Amino acid sequence: MDRIALIRELMNKKNLTNYLEIGVFNGRVFFRIESTFKIAVDPSFAFDYLRKMGKILINPYNLFNRYIEKKSDDFFAEDAPRLFANRKCNLSLIDGMHEYEFALRDVENTLKYLSDDGIIIMHDCNPVTKEEACPFEEWKAKGFKGQWNGDVWKTIMHLRAFRDDINVFVLDFDQGLGVITRRKPENRLAISRDDLHRFTYEDFDKNRSHWINLKPAAYYKEYFNV
Ligand SMILES: C[S@@+](CC[C@H](N)C(=O)[O-])C[C@H]1O[C@@H](n2cnc3c(N)ncnc32)[C@H](O)[C@@H]1O
Repeated sequence: MDRIALIRELMNKKNLTNYLEIGVFNGRVFFRIESTFKIAVDPSFAFDYLRKMGKILINPYNLFNRYIEKKSDDFFAEDAPRLFANRKCNLSLIDGMHEYEFALRDVENTLKYLSDDGIIIMHDCNPVTKEEACPFEEWKAKGFKGQWNGDVWKTIMHLRAFRDDINVFVLDFDQGLGVITRRKPENRLAISRDDLHRFTYEDFDKNRSHWINLKPAAYYKEYFNV
């Protein structure tokens, strides 16, 4: 099981149509989604015109793709109001800049356009080593080598502590897939903003299951009734 299988199953079984992916890279996930309304956002796509054409042959839904080559903040400021003027977003994969505040803005901006039954999936929420959770500058200094999850676990914690209008949990597969829906929170975290800024990877490692509301992989079937 991975994020591609999860997203495809949810879109298919819940009849979700409008898909938004923030952070697309080479389109490994994006090109495989079957929907007539798909938006790809990335400041630097890792594919060219030929790959796009090839992907239309493999999956004809790719004919309708919208490619927005810019940072997500600029997309939400300049394009999202127009693209979502007459429709809502049904499922979004947030997988761009893996830093707490960046990912938080992506979630909060996406929520403005999300349908009532919409689903946000956020990748990389459960880093299993300190190295994978290092700050972006450190990962860059290492030459972008190795798996990088960043500190989006703090984004999950922030949402669990400070939003009472969404339910948030993390599925325990594919580096931790955060799931955010407009439902009553199952439980809340009693922490302050100062706590959150102070917490280290070591603190997270001792408390991860509770802090990010970690669920076994199969939980999504029960939660979404699929
Ligand atoms: C881990 S890759 C995405 C992988 C892809 N979603 C997948 O599942 O295969 C992260 C991507 O985020 C992009 N990115 C970095 N900063 C971003 C930002 N501010 N807004 C949107 N995308 C960003 C990078 O260019 C990179 O292509």
